[in-house]
Amino acid sequence: MMDQLKFIILFLTLLVHSKHGYAMNYAAPTDCQWTTLKNHQIEPSVLLTCHVSGVGTQMDSTNFSLIQSLHTVGLTIICDDRYVEGRLTNSSLAHLNHLQSLKFERCSFSELADDALHGLVELKNLTVHTGKYEENRSVFNIGPTSLMKVRELEYLDLAGNNIISLPEYAFCGLINLKATKPQS
Ligand SMILES: *[C@@H]1O[C@H](CO)[C@@H](O)[C@H](O)[C@H]1NC(C)=O
Ligand SMILES: *[C@@H]1O[C@H](CO)[C@@H](O)[C@H](O)[C@H]1NC(C)=O
Ligand SMILES: *[C@@H]1O[C@H](CO)[C@@H](O)[C@H](O)[C@H]1NC(C)=O
Ligand SMILES: *[C@@H]1O[C@H](CO)[C@@H](O)[C@H](O)[C@H]1NC(C)=O
Repeated sequence: MMDQLKFIILFLTLLVHSKHGYAMNYAAPTDCQWTTLKNHQIEPSVLLTCHVSGVGTQMDSTNFSLIQSLHTVGLTIICDDRYVEGRLTNSSLAHLNHLQSLKFERCSFSELADDALHGLVELKNLTVHTGKYEENRSVFNIGPTSLMKVRELEYLDLAGNNIISLPEYAFCGLINLKATKPQS
């Protein structure tokens, strides 16, 4: 009985160690935390959550090129720039070619530029919540071809962003799109 128990404990220890072995290969930027996702095609796959002051603002120090491409399937950026306008332009996210889910929370973008999502060839879920300017909200502009860059897109959530108008062919070519929340 005792021997059996020892064996089980040894086995569990090995299991824990091998799981850890995976984890060791992933290096995240200092402002980010990550968790691994089970049962995913890419093993191990990582969901990364980063807290930044802002994206594309004048005081911006965020450098997305420090996020490693391999294993990163989900990225959530949480901004703390309620009063500073940022923009998502020719983004250094282009190297994240395994990314399937991208979320921006409380990032007060004025613009999603045409090349902002360039290179995100596997992106399925995109959420942009500017959640800002309770009283004086500025307009959020979507570049005419910005969404055409993410052809695998399935879910789009742009709710509550003070979008006045969408470009005429904004969703052109997005044949997998299942649900959108353009405006609340
Ligand atoms: C971001 O980091 C990379 C690699 O360290 C560097 O080559 C690049 O110039 C940086 N970009 C900015 C805008 O700081
Ligand atoms: C963005 O990228 C496009 C081509 O990829 C280039 O023509 C344009 O000048 C870039 N804009 C900025 C602001 O870097
Ligand atoms: C995308 O969003 C849908 C609906 O919210 C969810 O069911 C799905 O798991 C998400 N996929 C990824 C890759 O995050
Ligand atoms: C709203 O913002 C604009 C420009 O950002 C500014 O000119 C205007 O005074 C603001 N209005 C109020 C009521 O704060």
